[in-house]
Amino acid sequence: MTMKRTILILALAGGLGAAAAPAIAQEHDTPVPPKLKWSFAGPFGKYDQAQLQRGFKIYKEVCAACHSLQMLAFRNLADTGGPGFSEEQAAAVAAEYKIKDLDDKGEPVERTGRVADNFPSSFANELAAKAANGGVAPPDMSTLAKARS
Ligand code: HEC
Repeated sequence: MTMKRTILILALAGGLGAAAAPAIAQEHDTPVPPKLKWSFAGPFGKYDQAQLQRGFKIYKEVCAACHSLQMLAFRNLADTGGPGFSEEQAAAVAAEYKIKDLDDKGEPVERTGRVADNFPSSFANELAAKAANGGVAPPDMSTLAKARS
């Protein structure tokens, strides 16, 4: 898991989420797509922390209902160059999740998330993901970001 990919995932969620959110003013008969200023466009572009934090918020509130983020661990939120979460904040995010695990006897259990855990899947399995989405499973966000880098 490289930092670059973490950044891309969050920027992707933030960018697409922001583009979808505001109602487009319709001054003309045909809708005009909004002009978006990407701070990360061009060779000197960069991501800022506020942007990445917003991206993560949108991912968590909107996209996570369908798209998993399984290649990302909670501790990546505190990586340098990332959205600038503290270790405590990353731990707090992790604690909001229930993680499927096995106990000492190999029995399946659900426990509270820890920073070392990866983001859990949004669906129980691939078939459930397909069934809930008209036959097409939502691709994992980590894979989406990779496909675009
Ligand atoms: C209700 C479920 C659902 C939600 C919520 C959702 N998606 Fe998706 N998304 C899908 C499905 C299903 C596909 C696959 C569609 C296909 O391949 O035909 C998809 C595909 C995508 C793709 C790939 C499109 C392509 O051309 O490859 C991107 C990028 C994407 N979603 C981003 C997002 C982002 C960002 C959010 C949150 C702002 C989000 N999605 C929220 C279900 C969802």
